[in-house]
Amino acid sequence: MQSLLNKKIVLGISGGIAAYKTPELARLLMQEGASVQVVMTQAAQQFVTPVTMQALTGNPVFTSQWDSSIANNMAHIELSRSADIILIAPSSADLMAKLSLGLADDLLSTLCLARDCPLLLAPAMNKQMWEHAATQRSVQRLQDDGSVLLGPASGTQACGEVGMGRMLEPHEIAEQVIAFFQKKVLTGKKVLITAGPTFEAIDPVRGITNHSSGKMGFAIARAALEAGAQVHLIAGPCELSTPLEATGKIIRTNIVSAKEMHTATLAATDCDVFFAVAAVADWGIAKPAKEKLKRQGKEAPSIEFVANPDILQDVAKTVKFKGGKSYPYCVGFAAESTDLEKHANDKRQRKGIPMIVGNIGPDTFGSDTNQLIVIDDSGSKKIAQAEKLHLARQLIQLVAKKI
Ligand code: CTP
Repeated sequence: MQSLLNKKIVLGISGGIAAYKTPELARLLMQEGASVQVVMTQAAQQFVTPVTMQALTGNPVFTSQWDSSIANNMAHIELSRSADIILIAPSSADLMAKLSLGLADDLLSTLCLARDCPLLLAPAMNKQMWEHAATQRSVQRLQDDGSVLLGPASGTQACGEVGMGRMLEPHEIAEQVIAFFQKKVLTGKKVLITAGPTFEAIDPVRGITNHSSGKMGFAIARAALEAGAQVHLIAGPCELSTPLEATGKIIRTNIVSAKEMHTATLAATDCDVFFAVAAVADWGIAKPAKEKLKRQGKEAPSIEFVANPDILQDVAKTVKFKGGKSYPYCVGFAAESTDLEKHANDKRQRKGIPMIVGNIGPDTFGSDTNQLIVIDDSGSKKIAQAEKLHLARQLIQLVAKKI
């Protein structure tokens, strides 16, 4: 499902070398269902051409407030009237200074002054320009006036310097735009999530793990961030990148074994909601070998297991009561091969948690889609087959109502 369906975005481009990334950003926004109307400053056209943007978006590109093809010659009013947001990427120091003062001497700045929709800015500039007191004053003013800043990031710059001022990557901007449009049902809330598999070492090169991809847990982390929460993601070994990292609202702790996940999680229970999504190994290896076990001249070894702690159950024991509600609100996950609803509900009661989510298979590991059944005291509710991010957003809505 596309996350920007029916959204109309005016994509402003100002003059900066990062403009070479804007065609990719336009493509990503459109891939999510948005219609994109590009407006470029004179300087922007030194870096990327209107023809490129027109060919990609399928819409004529506006570059001047003196365009006679617009009815009643009021491009600045016409364009902003129909937009859900104005997004400017890259947003140069010069443009931000201008916007912060309410100046309107070209089409893009006039459009921003005449708008009645949110303004999102993705700054891009050299680090000295970013750090300059004048730019910082502009940024502060723009934020005070309600504009939303996406980035910038720190890193290598086109001028060869390293520091703050790089434009976020197109996919990071697109993800933040998508997040902007989600309902902010978890603003001010802290969410703790375990995700992915665990790995129990047999020796320094071998171990026991499982097929969990981490996708569902990471999707819940992203949906919680989109809903306005602060997220702590405790992840087992998996290749997934941290969702919405550039927002600075997510902490990721990487762990390997179930015991490490237990320690990290129990140290982070000061939160409003806990999602136990990880596929935690039930048993660890009693005595992992310090050196690699050699095959030559040896019989097949037998391995002694020891039970791992139950993270979810232990977090459930830390629950405190505040204002008639218990925190953290604990949500478990269950993958069962038979009688899903019954086994999952038994598990919910056994672990002493208010909600459990059953994965309705068959093949949920690694897949991008799934179906869920959500069980709590009031009964059960199915969430139909969809992409994991879409399922996660629905789950976040349900949980937000509980807290
Ligand atoms: N879980 C956990 N710590 C463990 C085992 C499981 O936090 N050591 C959590 C999982 O993250 C999940 C829930 O408990 O949210 C259920 O996991 P599952 O493996 O299905 O439950 P088990 O208690 O291991 O039950 P069984 O293997 O008997 O089905």
